Amino acid sequence: MPSSPTVADPHIPEPGDADLSTHRLALRVVTMPKETNQYGTIFGGVILSYIDQAGFVQARRHACLRWVTVAIDRVEFKQPVQLGDVVDFYARTVRTGRTSVTVEVDVFAERYASAQRVPVTSATLVMVAVDEHGRSIPFASAPSSSPNEVA
Ligand SMILES: CC(C)(COP(=O)(O)OP(=O)(O)OC[C@H]1O[C@@H](n2cnc3c(N)ncnc32)[C@H](O)[C@@H]1OP(=O)(O)O)[C@@H](O)C(=O)NCCC(=O)NCCS
Repeated sequence: MPSSPTVADPHIPEPGDADLSTHRLALRVVTMPKETNQYGTIFGGVILSYIDQAGFVQARRHACLRWVTVAIDRVEFKQPVQLGDVVDFYARTVRTGRTSVTVEVDVFAERYASAQRVPVTSATLVMVAVDEHGRSIPFASAPSSSPNEVA
């Protein structure tokens, strides 16, 4: 029996793969000087902002609608993110509701000089599909990958 995919061994989707319950790369960024505090590490709020964007990317995989964040659970930073780190945000859907999806985002930093990969944090977000008036609306029940997705 194949083992369950883990964050350390993320599932790399094939084109057309619609399984959104496995971790997939949603965002990869290189940290910049403007994002650092006076100690040279990255502000936690910057990482939260990227987590929010990764949550949006995952929600949009369900349907190309307007998605807004209604809730983010408690976030605990295990390790600092440093200037120049390559930071990966893996996302998966843990629940689909009528108008909302609950998304888990796991964050890893790859150190600039050593390429060592360290876990940074994880968060669970609830994203809601809304219409142009900001009212919640049902989203397509059958999730599908964007034809433009890259693994
Ligand atoms: C998202 C928003 C439209 C929801 O409004 P609402 O009146 O609660 O709408 P509904 O009662 O229809 O709930 C919509 C969905 O959100 C979920 N939800 C609402 N509040 C929630 C909360 N605090 N935590 C988790 N889920 C929540 C509901 O369970 C429902 O999910 P479901 O349809 O899949 O069962 C409204 O709260 C909003 O506009 N919030 C601001 C979003 C935003 O701008 N975010 C960025 C901030 S800068």
